Amino acid sequence: MTDTVIRLDDVRRYYVMGENIVKALDGVTLEIQRGEYTAIMGPSGSGKSTMMHLIGCLDTPTEGKISIDYEDVSDLREAELAFIRNEKVGFIFQQFNLLSRISALENVMTPLLYAGIPVKQRKEMAIAALERVGLADRMKHRPNELSGGQKQRVSVARALVNDPSIILADEPTGALDTKTGDQILELFDELHAEGRTLLVVTHDDGIGGRCLRQIRLRDGKVEGL
Ligand SMILES: Nc1ncnc2c1ncn2[C@@H]1O[C@H](COP(=O)(O)OP(=O)(O)O)[C@@H](O)[C@H]1O
Ligand SMILES: [Mg+2]
Repeated sequence: MTDTVIRLDDVRRYYVMGENIVKALDGVTLEIQRGEYTAIMGPSGSGKSTMMHLIGCLDTPTEGKISIDYEDVSDLREAELAFIRNEKVGFIFQQFNLLSRISALENVMTPLLYAGIPVKQRKEMAIAALERVGLADRMKHRPNELSGGQKQRVSVARALVNDPSIILADEPTGALDTKTGDQILELFDELHAEGRTLLVVTHDDGIGGRCLRQIRLRDGKVEGL
């Protein structure tokens, strides 16, 4: 039985820049099944981040249709997009994107705040997520008191905490040394083994080869189709 968690149908995202139109995504059609572990690859400027923003409900397409976990998100307004994003997507960014003034625990609790979960339960869920990534002993620390690898673990915990349908990572090891990056990729392998759906944006063949499926973009189109 198929269980298509991400579906893109002839998706285009054009940016108007004065006289020019930048075709960041130019007719992408693809499906991703629940539990897949996929790399989005391609050179700089090929549309990887644009595609991740669309799949992550941070942006909507100029044309075409996108469904995330059976919800059509192609034409939603920001408030509706934000709701789906919070419920269905966990994000991991190259630069971690943690809030610097609050602790690791509070950072991991934030997605649950928007979901309207009571504070006691938010705390329990965030502690469980931090335990999952091996950081239970650092939860009172602020981001600037953590190493790069630890910060990325906090952001993995934040991405996991509300049990999203998909986890999106954009160049997740780009700001880390090789050994620390490998530890994050090992964590991803484990999340995949637990049945999570992961999309990893990378221009690194080594990282892409670790994923079970590769989708290559070039000039806003999927290569090899
Ligand atoms: N907000 C934007 N405004 C104008 N052009 C953009 C914007 N975002 C991306 N682009 C352009 O779209 C193309 C794809 O960008 P991007 O998706 O960031 O590629 P990648 O992540 O593969 O490096 C590039 O030509 C980029 O300059
Ligand atoms: Mg990018």
